[in-house]
Amino acid sequence: MVNSGSSANLLIIDSLIRSSIAQSSLQAGDEIIVPGLSWPTTAWPIAQLGLVPVFVDVDPATLAIDLNSAKSVLGPKTRGLFLIHALGRAADVSSYLEFCARNGLEFIEDCCESLGAYSSASHVGTESRAASFSFYFSHHISTIEGGMVVTSDARLADEFRGLRAHGWIRDRSDRDEWIDRNPTLDSRFLFASVGYNVRPTEIQGAIGNVQLQRLDQMLFARDSLARAVNGWLETNAPWLELIGRETLAAAAPSDRSGRTNSWMTLPLRLRSDAPVSRDDVARHFERCRVETRPIIAGNLSRHPAVQLIDHRVAGSMTTCDSLLSDTFMIGCHPILSTGSLTTLEAAITSLSEF
Ligand SMILES: Cc1ncc(COP(=O)(O)O)c(C=O)c1O
Repeated sequence: MVNSGSSANLLIIDSLIRSSIAQSSLQAGDEIIVPGLSWPTTAWPIAQLGLVPVFVDVDPATLAIDLNSAKSVLGPKTRGLFLIHALGRAADVSSYLEFCARNGLEFIEDCCESLGAYSSASHVGTESRAASFSFYFSHHISTIEGGMVVTSDARLADEFRGLRAHGWIRDRSDRDEWIDRNPTLDSRFLFASVGYNVRPTEIQGAIGNVQLQRLDQMLFARDSLARAVNGWLETNAPWLELIGRETLAAAAPSDRSGRTNSWMTLPLRLRSDAPVSRDDVARHFERCRVETRPIIAGNLSRHPAVQLIDHRVAGSMTTCDSLLSDTFMIGCHPILSTGSLTTLEAAITSLSEF
């Protein structure tokens, strides 16, 4: 566990650049493919650590990296792909694994928005070199601020334990070997890697343990809300579609590994036959006291911060570019009062008046 999902991403990239025990797989100047629909701190650690993010377009159905777009940016310096499972939707991990294997790329996953989602019966984040999770309070479980790095590589796990706490050896499983190799140094203060301090507190850990016990229940509630909203939309405003609605049929809330979407929010897209604009619909929701937000930040590569870093962008970013004009999202809270549900239902049923 670490103090945020952003820190988890930072440790993942760092661990692959400056390994204390194994051959490093990444070095300065290497390019990592990231989706244009990206949370900033998925892309920033890549740039902060001297690598180059290459922004590619996303698939309109899954909102995850479009592999044709990823293919179009492959070059001699491409070394990795950082997949984001967006807004709870598990992307098809096998196709990314295959793409990375074929092109000699590190495959890493940002699952900060998708705790509880499964791809082909494997929990997201379990098939790659390493993956991140966030427990920030709007996510599936909350430790107020908090995050997690997972890997099935024991050496990488030791790297994370060191990087999390100043580079200290004391949480590492190979601690005794470091002590034996450095007999002149005080074993209590022995540093093996160039670390950070991104530790969570015991209080965050305690909150997380309790939250974990409620995860299934909260995922079930999110799924039920998504089903209700989808039904209201289909009846009253078929021109406004819940992105990912096709996963509702497949989701089997009683069977964890059947859950392909853990619905972090409810992303909505206006069809081309919509009678009104995206902004009109968003204003309607706001007037009905239902908050709306853009889908993450639209196309991150268009944000001013990106001009400050070395980066590349795929030639076509059609889907990412359309996000701010065609889509928006509303919340998907697992605990809604009857009053909130009525407010939401009224906002959606009254769309039929457009
Ligand atoms: C895809 C993604 N990655 C990383 C993060 C960062 O997580 P945190 O807010 O815990 O730093 C977020 C946060 O919302 C996110 O959505």
